[in-house]
Amino acid sequence: MSERTFLLAANWKMNPTPAAALVNAHGDQSKNPYHPHADIDVVVFPTFLDVQRCMDAGLIVGAQYGHPEVSGAHTGDVSMAMLKTIGCRYVLCGHSERRNDHKETDNDVAAQAIAALEQKIHPIICIGETLEEREKGHAEAVVKKQLKGLPLESDVTIAYEPVWAIGTGKTATPTQAQEMHAFIRSQLPKDRRDSTRILYGGSMKVENAEAMLKQPDIDGGLIGGASLKPEEFGKMIEIAEKMIIN
Ligand code: PGA
Repeated sequence: MSERTFLLAANWKMNPTPAAALVNAHGDQSKNPYHPHADIDVVVFPTFLDVQRCMDAGLIVGAQYGHPEVSGAHTGDVSMAMLKTIGCRYVLCGHSERRNDHKETDNDVAAQAIAALEQKIHPIICIGETLEEREKGHAEAVVKKQLKGLPLESDVTIAYEPVWAIGTGKTATPTQAQEMHAFIRSQLPKDRRDSTRILYGGSMKVENAEAMLKQPDIDGGLIGGASLKPEEFGKMIEIAEKMIIN
């Protein structure tokens, strides 16, 4: 088994924070599946509006986006520096929904990741191919291009999220995911290959979590839909924890 600690990240996107997350995790943690765990890393990604509330509840919190510039004329944006000030420890960079909705390019994503590192915020950098790209046999080339220019020599996390599996209920098979994760790992600088975590994202749920997490190059999940359901998210954490013990 790898020495990389599992990371389960709840990406709530533009959805209300699940009420269970706001049960104070400093007290009875059994009521809050999102609370920090000793043996695996659990991080939540609420909307900007709920970042503070989640931190007040004792959760480890990340932002879904951060602007690379420290401040300036960027209406509607929040900078990495501001995220740092408020206490965010993680940030998502280049989620496919942001690449699509906000036309973020690979260069933008690299700039975000570099700015996050400068602020000592841990970037989770999302990459992944569309269905069309996979069907044409271009999946590896697409991912390779997305990796280019990223600060991979630093302490970052990669999330492989095939676009066709996000929010669709379709999941890559564990074999497909493992193949791509192994390919991504082969692209990392040699001295970072063993230590960099690569998460799987795309309809990860209770039914497939164990099969995914069993794969040698899958180090956790970036979980959307299923993370909004506290019970389901809690079960996925249990699955990950059992796998560490066994
Ligand atoms: P999903 O989302 O689990 O709902 O597919 C994952 C993600 O987009 O991060």
